[in-house]
Amino acid sequence: MAIFASVLFELVPNVTSPPTHPLQVVESVGEVRTAVAMARQAGHSVGFVPTMGALHVGHVSLIERARVDCGFVAVSIFVNPTQFGPHEDFNRYPRPRERDLQICRDAGADLVFYPTVETMYPTGDRTTVDVAGLSEILEGAIRPGHFRGVATVVTKLFNIVQADRAYFGQKDYQQQTLIRVMTRELNLPTEVVTCETIRDPDGLALSSRNAYLSPNERQAGLSLSRALRIAERHLAQGERSVANLEAAMRHELHSTHGLHLEYAVIVHHESLMELSAVEPVMVALVAARVGSTRLIDNLILRLPLEAAAP
Ligand code: PAJ
Repeated sequence: MAIFASVLFELVPNVTSPPTHPLQVVESVGEVRTAVAMARQAGHSVGFVPTMGALHVGHVSLIERARVDCGFVAVSIFVNPTQFGPHEDFNRYPRPRERDLQICRDAGADLVFYPTVETMYPTGDRTTVDVAGLSEILEGAIRPGHFRGVATVVTKLFNIVQADRAYFGQKDYQQQTLIRVMTRELNLPTEVVTCETIRDPDGLALSSRNAYLSPNERQAGLSLSRALRIAERHLAQGERSVANLEAAMRHELHSTHGLHLEYAVIVHHESLMELSAVEPVMVALVAARVGSTRLIDNLILRLPLEAAAP
């Protein structure tokens, strides 16, 4: 079922029923560990939603899913400096603390971990986590070091919270792929759950960075989801050449005024490797700049059943 952002967005500030228990907001690792230990003692399973704040309905959907699955829900809000490049938006990234805490409260979180940079990196960032192969391609090729920062901070957060399940958005497809691989290969005892991308009714995937867009830029940004739907439609209509499907997406993106295409590819849904022929399940990944804002989006593409049969 598609959840439309505008509908949910209305709900965020209007939730009137008080939460069953107050939201605990903590800044130290010790406090997180104590709260989680108490929840476990009370027999609860633990769900975890890592975020960088500036929360929107996409984040809320993850918290709500964790709320359904788990007896205790922890959210982290940390704008992680190590995943931003030197010329990226670390300083201007929005940090609406009180609004974010209210959203967590309304979505039913039990705990928010709101660490400082010193708490997360007391001795700098000597020890890092790299997922070779996945870190350097696509987003990683355009944002060198980004996925090292993500993998490292998520490993640290997983070790701090020690949740049963952690919730990620399909919106950041390469990120959830990398975190799944890393979690498996490092034997981290947390199950990774990926939740569907929440979009505005016009198709734009929600992102904290959409706040940077002018009305014209936002219009241009709609081209990403349109390009993905074009690939999906061409596949449904019988197109079986990956190159042609990619070309159709690129055509849409290139013809959008004010948009600078970075990549539009169709790759294997797990390895993210290029495909020479269509597969039963693929993922279309697009990235573009509008003005100074980077936007990414993706769509799972499935070959119609009769075509997938041997
Ligand atoms: P952030 O961009 O705040 O996103 C937090 C989580 O929300 C991610 O799992 C992301 O995929 C998910 N999300 C964002 N937009 C979404 C949407 N429209 N629909 C569904 N889910 C959405 O991703 C990060 O933070 C960081 O890299 C982090 C994992 C916290 C590590 O620092």
